[in-house]
Amino acid sequence: MVKDFISLADFSGEEIVAFLELADELKTKQRNRTPHRILEGKTLAMIFEKPSLRTRVTFHTGMFQLGGDSVLIETTLGARESVPDVARNLTRWVDGIMARTFRHTDVLELAEYATVPVINALTDLLHPCQILADAQALRNHRGADLSNVKLAFVGDGNNVFHSWAHFAAKVPVNLTLVCPEGYDPDMELVEEARKTAAGTIEVTHDVVAGVKGADAVYTDVWASMGQEKETVERERAFAAYQVNDALMAKAKSDALFMHCLPAHRGSEVTDSVMDSPASIVFDQAENRLHAQKAVMATLMK
Ligand code: CP
Ligand code: NVA
Repeated sequence: MVKDFISLADFSGEEIVAFLELADELKTKQRNRTPHRILEGKTLAMIFEKPSLRTRVTFHTGMFQLGGDSVLIETTLGARESVPDVARNLTRWVDGIMARTFRHTDVLELAEYATVPVINALTDLLHPCQILADAQALRNHRGADLSNVKLAFVGDGNNVFHSWAHFAAKVPVNLTLVCPEGYDPDMELVEEARKTAAGTIEVTHDVVAGVKGADAVYTDVWASMGQEKETVERERAFAAYQVNDALMAKAKSDALFMHCLPAHRGSEVTDSVMDSPASIVFDQAENRLHAQKAVMATLMK
């Protein structure tokens, strides 16, 4: 297995499923309060260039539950000292580094110069931790075999979708991105994912066709962190892609609703969908804790 958790593309399908199975095991242990101090005495450095609620709390809490500790660094990488020097310093003190950055290349550079594992906690390109938590939630609700499950991702072809494409490249599932023209994903990444995908990976601009037959409808914010200046033009471009009751009615009658959060209620999703019984968004959020504990326990033990 590779040293770092930067992209799901770096792992085999078996390794990804092993993370998910360990995440379920740790979820049960945590709920039963069975001690699992796999990382006793170890420390995680958490670098944040962007805001966070879920990632920050779940990595910190996860380390605590595993018997270790974490240290928070809110910074702009490369501003005070070079990224390689940050990595060389941290390597001498801590047992793992988690980083949320703008540039994906900064996480790659941290991993290159650190001898301890580096975990990608979201970059402009990818968000692999989110997809592990999402997949855990989807399996918890629809069973471990996702090969007959259709997930319609309605919204921006962004970091979250890219990591879902990487997942679909390795673990059988049928993934469709439904996005407005001009907001397509990185099609080279999608083409690469399609080469090994057991299921399908589709991209369409047609909401009705894209959502038809979906077992789960997923959405994310229209303007990601760093794209705030584009908010007004994106609100216009994505208006027809809002996940509301009418859109959910085009999916299967028992379709689940998913969102990585934070949600902009009234924009990409309505209150009626967010708060409906179909919504599993807080299961996804809870699983960030268990899925990341599985990653840390595997890479840092
Ligand atoms: N989904 C997610 O990564 O949430 P935060 O931005 O709050 O960490
Ligand atoms: N696409 C969003 C995900 C937030 C968890 C962003 O990058 O801001």
